[in-house]
Amino acid sequence: MERTYIMTKPDAYNRGLIGEVITRIENKGYKITNMKMMNLDEAILTEHYAHLADKPFFKDIVEYMTSGPVVGMIVEGENVVAGMRNIMGPTDGLEAPAGTIRGDYANNKSENIVHGSDSVENAEIEIKRFFG
Ligand code: CDP
Ligand code: MG
Repeated sequence: MERTYIMTKPDAYNRGLIGEVITRIENKGYKITNMKMMNLDEAILTEHYAHLADKPFFKDIVEYMTSGPVVGMIVEGENVVAGMRNIMGPTDGLEAPAGTIRGDYANNKSENIVHGSDSVENAEIEIKRFFG
């Protein structure tokens, strides 16, 4: 069965939206097979967001992602990588359609509630990164 790495971000924790994200994952028909709350540090964020590490706003991402705990999850289901990206919506909450997690709960492209792997290959890399 295909699996993906989903992670609620610190704004979800601070706004009390972790349960909402979990409910949407389960309502879609996916199974959460592992879950843990963590406090991330700059080292793991530099690895996880390597494609953004040279951007001027990377320090803002680190500040945001270390502002509270995250909840990492392994989520399983048919075509779950693409399916989760669909129910999350695009990166920018302003552009994300209503009905998606980001469309309903985020209003900018930085603090957007949830992370989801963007390919099956990256899902396996990210699951290894956060669950070993
Ligand atoms: O999370 P997603 O895969 O949709 O987007 P990304 O391009 O892989 O960026 C990862 C994360 O970096 C985003 O979800 C935002 O939290 C943050 N980001 C940002 O703050 N400003 C940007 N211009 C792009 C991304
Ligand atoms: Mg990404």
